[in-house]
Amino acid sequence: MTRYFIGVDVSTTASKAVVVDEQGNVVTTKSHPHELYTPRPLWSEQDPENWWQAASQSLREAVQEVGADAVAAIGLTGQMHGLTSLDKDGQPVRPAMLWNDQRSIAQCAEITEKIGAKRLYQLIGSILLPGFTAPKLLWVKQNEPDVFGRIAHILLPKDYIRYRLSGAYVADVADGSGFGLMDIGKRTWSDELLSAYGFSRSILPELCESQDVSARVSEAGAAATGLKVGTPIVGGAGDQPASGVGNGIVEPNQASLTVGTSGVAYAANARYEPEPDGRLHTFCGPMPGTWMHMGVMLSAAGGLRWLHDEVTPGMNYDELNRHAESVPRGALGLLFAPYLTGERNPHPDPFARGAFIGFTLRHGVPHMIRSVMEGVAFGMRDQLELLRSLGVNPKEAVIAGGLVNSPVWKHLTTDIMGIPLYTVNTGESSAFGAAILAAVGTGAYPDVPTACKAMVRRVETIQPDPAGAADYERLYPIFQGLYPALKTTYAALAKFEGQ
Ligand code: XUL
Repeated sequence: MTRYFIGVDVSTTASKAVVVDEQGNVVTTKSHPHELYTPRPLWSEQDPENWWQAASQSLREAVQEVGADAVAAIGLTGQMHGLTSLDKDGQPVRPAMLWNDQRSIAQCAEITEKIGAKRLYQLIGSILLPGFTAPKLLWVKQNEPDVFGRIAHILLPKDYIRYRLSGAYVADVADGSGFGLMDIGKRTWSDELLSAYGFSRSILPELCESQDVSARVSEAGAAATGLKVGTPIVGGAGDQPASGVGNGIVEPNQASLTVGTSGVAYAANARYEPEPDGRLHTFCGPMPGTWMHMGVMLSAAGGLRWLHDEVTPGMNYDELNRHAESVPRGALGLLFAPYLTGERNPHPDPFARGAFIGFTLRHGVPHMIRSVMEGVAFGMRDQLELLRSLGVNPKEAVIAGGLVNSPVWKHLTTDIMGIPLYTVNTGESSAFGAAILAAVGTGAYPDVPTACKAMVRRVETIQPDPAGAADYERLYPIFQGLYPALKTTYAALAKFEGQ
């Protein structure tokens, strides 16, 4: 009988169940949306019950289609860093605070001061950012002490789904790295950090490796989803490391560029070598004894969605692409700073904003469209340069995310990167990666690289156009000047807004 592996992705916008066979064919995909709440500036929240409803319904529909007997294992993935806080009975005590919630700026400064910046980067593999889980918990401790007093367990979004499926409180080390509470080199929770925050070890989930069988579906989990009691659930990984696996990025000097709502450059490393100034994230990798580097733009394809929704709501995306194509490279000198939701790498600044620089009377909407596409691609080039500064030297890179649906955006991004980019067969790469981890964890393949060789296939390779690459090489340093030039303006605007 054919055996299937289901990758469940609890993303920011929806929970999806992607059913994959042993050869890497996607058999079916089910998805249900999430609501997002931004009740105050800098806040970004979701209801964990909404994740469970969406995930369990997607699983139910997928299992109905392929039959519960054929499901060999589940792999979990999802948005990273989200603080899901539960009481002693496993009930959420407040809405989850997400990866793009920026309210814990003061808490990050407090802990960085307490531990010392260099020591902190060495431990957590990154600058401590408001998006991370631990400073958000400190915010709750300082601002909602009654709520904090009721917290008995904290989990990441996908691990809340594991809890609802199985009753187990477990996180994998690749997603767990995003708490900002681990000693990443040692792949364990850090007692030094726990004591600096004043958190009890007992509220943290157990840690496992991404491919380990971490839990099994309980009777309650089976009743809600149609899965069989006892179906194995592997550790899984956060959306970025899982997407790394789904894109086949498992060897040194391979890299992927994922341009979804956020934008991420990702590479694997066989050693723990954090960037000395914490300018990108070096976290535990989704394979035992490996680490990963990732540079994150908070708003990538999100920038084009904003332009579409707010500036050109009547146009469809094909029209946007046609307009972008009708404009010369560089959009007649119109540059876009893509920091619509603050930024992480290489400019960790929650107050950074979007900006168009260079309007003249010759510019119109088509130039704005091309400029947004180019600004996002330049932001991704910044991430690639961060990887290069760590000695990662990709000769080509996988490109993934919504951008692959736009030929013009794909080509101008290839020119801006200056290296060939290629796509693979694994559309929903995070869920696909989680399904690969499930296949490895239950013995279908001996290890992740072997599984990737069998399941991930190259689809299309795009070569940079030498003339385009040369033009963008001249424009890139001008783009790099935007953030330093605007930094003080961003701070002044935040102050004006009372942030
Ligand atoms: C990674 C990160 C985002 C979220 C949402 O550090 O914060 O990629 O995982 O996709």
